[in-house]
Amino acid sequence: MHFLLLFFYLLPATATPPLRPGYYSKTCPNAEIIVKDVLKNAMIREPRSGASVMRFQFHDCFVNGCDGSMLLDDTPTMLGEKLSLSNINSLRSYEVVDEIKAALESACPMLVSCADIIVMASRDAVALSGGPTWEVKLGRKDSLTASQEDADNIMPSPRANATTLIDLFAKYDLSVKDLVALSGSHSIGNGRCFSIVFRLYNQSGTGRPDPTIEPKFREKLDKLCPLGGDGNITGDLDFTPLIFDNQYFKDLVNGRGFLNSDETLYSYWETREYVKRYSEDEEEFFRDFVEGMIKMGDLQSGRPGEVRKNCRVANGGQPVHLVVDGVKDRRILSS
Ligand code: HEM
Ligand SMILES: *[C@@H]1O[C@H](CO)[C@@H](O)[C@H](O)[C@H]1NC(C)=O
Ligand SMILES: *[C@@H]1O[C@H](CO)[C@@H](O)[C@H](O)[C@H]1NC(C)=O
Ligand SMILES: *[C@@H]1O[C@H](CO)[C@@H](O)[C@H](O)[C@H]1NC(C)=O
Repeated sequence: MHFLLLFFYLLPATATPPLRPGYYSKTCPNAEIIVKDVLKNAMIREPRSGASVMRFQFHDCFVNGCDGSMLLDDTPTMLGEKLSLSNINSLRSYEVVDEIKAALESACPMLVSCADIIVMASRDAVALSGGPTWEVKLGRKDSLTASQEDADNIMPSPRANATTLIDLFAKYDLSVKDLVALSGSHSIGNGRCFSIVFRLYNQSGTGRPDPTIEPKFREKLDKLCPLGGDGNITGDLDFTPLIFDNQYFKDLVNGRGFLNSDETLYSYWETREYVKRYSEDEEEFFRDFVEGMIKMGDLQSGRPGEVRKNCRVANGGQPVHLVVDGVKDRRILSS
């Protein structure tokens, strides 16, 4: 086993098999239908779950590639990504992925990876919310481990400004255009007061609110999120939070972006042009969004993987990152 792991680690990243559409067409022909049906029912039960599941693609793919690592529960010897700064009390609807996985396990056991489920369900959530649809490439493998530390280091803060975000996306070969188009995902879903109180009351340590917030909208947010109030209260990320449309960009143009990381895209010259264009041309937004989602879905770590039986635990059950006296140890068990 040790030898095997070591062997895999030495393979160049190019040994990762290419992703392709229709990967399950012979082995599990109904896979895409099953994913969509289960998600659709979840969205009937709770409309917001579509947005929550769609967000998974971002949080999965940016941390060591699209490998389902963010779905792993912590174990006594591994701190996973669920309790990382950006995910704790924030990512939700993990149970929808469990439900999809259970349906797939009964139709075609051990065939469809959790990483592919995320990518299929994200696509479906957008389409079921009135947005575009597209063909997804499949064939991803699930990681054997997860890293809270990597998630902490990588995932951007709601305070992030445009230049920080441009730099982050560039690390993944995602352009300024991709950044703005993908941020349009905030056309659906909610955010917490915790994520915006700093900009309502103390932007950049000035003791003042963010001056780019339109005054009427700021009044509304102040009421929703009073200073010292409950940080878990949520507000809409745009004015039509259940519909995937270009309202988000219209809101940004009007100074009504919810997150600092949203409004900054209109404040900064390099991203402003795209925000303006998407606010006027929904088709262009949809086209660029799809292009960005496909590029983001291509991110792979080249590390060894498997098809998990349960999205919350690696099949071997045992992790790679150790916790020693509360200190994270990044040694790899196989070495
Ligand atoms: C550009 C950098 C991004 C930043 C800084 C960012 C940050 C955030 C924050 C702070 C929230 C609210 C979380 C909370 O308050 O608990 C949020 C929600 C959300 N994000 Fe992002 N995000 C970014 C990009 C993306 C991308 C690329 C996607 C997907 C393609 C995405 C999809 C979502 C969705 C759908 C929600 C709402 C989830 C729900 O209602 O449960 N975000 N994001
Ligand atoms: C953006 O944020 C980074 C990190 O907080 C900071 O160093 C930089 O000066 C900011 N850029 C602008 C244009 O405000
Ligand atoms: C605002 O933030 C700055 C810097 O983070 C901090 O020093 C200051 O005490 C804060 N002011 C208020 C009123 O919270
Ligand atoms: C939100 O709720 C969780 C779980 O009840 C709690 O642990 C956390 O401290 C709350 N967060 C904020 C910002 O109030």
